[in-house]
Amino acid sequence: NTSQTIYDLVGEEQIRLLTHYFYQEVAKNEDLKRLYPEDLLPAEDRLFLFLLQVFGGPETYSEQRGHPRLRMRHAKWKIDATMRDHWMTAMLSALDKLNLEQNIKEAMLSYFVNAANHMINHA
Ligand code: HEM
Repeated sequence: NTSQTIYDLVGEEQIRLLTHYFYQEVAKNEDLKRLYPEDLLPAEDRLFLFLLQVFGGPETYSEQRGHPRLRMRHAKWKIDATMRDHWMTAMLSALDKLNLEQNIKEAMLSYFVNAANHMINHA
């Protein structure tokens, strides 16, 4: 099997940068920032490790945090379509800062659109 994962194609450094840019956007968005802990660095690390894993890299996230169960972990925040849009806008801005091949960017974007919709828990 020669199929390459997103992790193989973009590498750890790009995923590190993506999460860093994402949290810079979170810090700039009051509605989003209110949900997050005061110290964004540990949160940045959790998202980084999760994305490494979800895109086909090392499974350090689950070693440290257990099964992701992301929807359940997000149940304590009221996430409606507007909040989903804030999150997606932040992620899209972060993705735009990387110099990714269009097809890789689209693959990552479609994962995020799907996952973000799945996190909605409030009308
Ligand atoms: C954690 C909000 C979507 C992945 C968090 C946290 C907040 C949050 C406030 C706590 C930060 C921390 O301490 O780690 C939201 C909102 C979303 C959203 C408002 C809107 C749709 C997503 C999506 C993903 C994701 C789409 C996956 C791509 C994670 C992960 C954590 C996390 C991996 C850390 C979970 C843990 O191990 O505790 N999110 N999130 N989130 N989020 Fe989201």
